[in-house]
Amino acid sequence: MTSARTPLIAGNWKLHNTVAESEALAGAIAAHVGNGLACEVVVAPVATSLAAVRETLSGTAVGLAAQNSHWEDSGAFTGELSPVLLLDVGCTHCIIGHSERRQYFGETDAGVRKKVSALLVHKVVPIVCVGESLDEREAGKTLDVVLGQVDAATDGLDAVALAPLVIAYEPIWAIGTGRTAKAEDAQEVHAAIRSRLAELKGESWATTVRILYGGSVKPANADELLSQPDIDGALVGGASLSAENFIPIIDAGVSRAEFSARRRSLEL
Ligand code: PGA
Repeated sequence: MTSARTPLIAGNWKLHNTVAESEALAGAIAAHVGNGLACEVVVAPVATSLAAVRETLSGTAVGLAAQNSHWEDSGAFTGELSPVLLLDVGCTHCIIGHSERRQYFGETDAGVRKKVSALLVHKVVPIVCVGESLDEREAGKTLDVVLGQVDAATDGLDAVALAPLVIAYEPIWAIGTGRTAKAEDAQEVHAAIRSRLAELKGESWATTVRILYGGSVKPANADELLSQPDIDGALVGGASLSAENFIPIIDAGVSRAEFSARRRSLEL
C-alpha cells in the first residue's frame, strides 16, 4: 500500500535572521502556502522571532517550530525555553536533538528522551534529529548509531504517547556541506528506522510516522529524495533561508503527496 503519510517540509533557520528578516521570510512562505497545501509546512525561527512570526503566519497553514526546548515546564534554568512557553507563543512543533546541539551544547540521548516526553505531554510535535558522523559512516556504524539514537529517544514511551512523533534523519557529514546522501542510501536508513520503530512499538504506528531527510536539501535534489518510499519530507537548513529556494522544496512535498494519493486511488 502506498504511503498515506502527509509530507512535512520544515525550515530550520538556525541562528539567522532578525525579527524583521524573519517576518519577511515567513510572509513570503505563508503567501505561497496560504490556507493549505497537500503537504505540511513549518518554519523554525530563532526564539526571539517566534512571537512576531506567529503573527505573520496567523490564518495560514504554516506551522511554527522552535529549535530546542528544556524538559521542565519552569524553574531556575537560566537561558532555557520550555514546552509550556513554546505552546504559549504558538509553536506547533519543536526540533530536538539536532546534531549541532549534540555537538556544541552537550545534548545527550537521555536529554533528548526527556524533551520528547515533555513536548508530547504539552502536545507540541517533537521533530527528533538522528544521524551519524563521517567517521561513523566510514566505519560501517551508520545503522548502529542512528538506531541507537532512535531507541534512546523513544525508550519507555508507547505508540499512543508517541503518536505525533516526527524523526529527521540527518547525516552529520551532509549538514551545511553541500554533500547530500544519495537518495537510495538515505532511503536505506529511513527504511531501517521504520522497521526498528515497528519492532519497538508496533507496525501499525510505524507506518504512520513521518521520517524526514535533512542535510543539504535544495531545489535541485528535493524531488529525487522525496520520491523515495520512506522519505516523508525534509528538514532544510541553508535552503530554507530564502523563499526562492524553500518554495520549490515545498512544491516537491506537494508532488509527493499528489503522487501518493494517485497511487492509492489506483490500488483501491
Ligand atoms: P542544511 O541543514 O540544509 O543547511 O544542510 C540541515 C539541518 O541542519 O537541519
